[in-house]
Amino acid sequence: MNIYDKVAIMLGMHDLLPSKIIMPVYLITGYEPIDEEHRQIFARVNTYAHAIETQNEWLIERCHQFFRSYARTHFEHEDAIMQRIHYDAALYDQHLRAHSRFWLHMEKIKEPGHRTKDTLDFMLHWLEGHINHQDRQLCQVLLRDHPDFVDDHPRR
Ligand SMILES: [Fe+2]
Ligand SMILES: [Fe+2]
Repeated sequence: MNIYDKVAIMLGMHDLLPSKIIMPVYLITGYEPIDEEHRQIFARVNTYAHAIETQNEWLIERCHQFFRSYARTHFEHEDAIMQRIHYDAALYDQHLRAHSRFWLHMEKIKEPGHRTKDTLDFMLHWLEGHINHQDRQLCQVLLRDHPDFVDDHPRR
């Protein structure tokens, strides 16, 4: 089984996308600025899988750099939204802790000898779980209770 097939199975997309990783439709939250950032992350996960498949160390490192910098930008964006709408304190705390787990993993793989395939697995599980739960929860609150914010921030 190649890496794309494995990923497609993990994301429940085996019939649809056997050789390309894109964000599955069920991960759309409905708030387009956040969804677009998630799509960008998945697009790079696709590159990352290709880099691992071809053992392209240069590209693997470039992907790691992208994930670190893009994750920072994306997490700051979500953090700013949560602060702006005075998000529930417990949910806010939980959300930030989840971001920290991703961030710590990305820092850990800077060290030599990290296991890249494990990182891809971690990333996909984390993205799927986090987007489907905490990000979706945030976007639902945003869309339901803060239409003014959504109107003022249709795009970044
Ligand atoms: Fe998040
Ligand atoms: Fe997110």
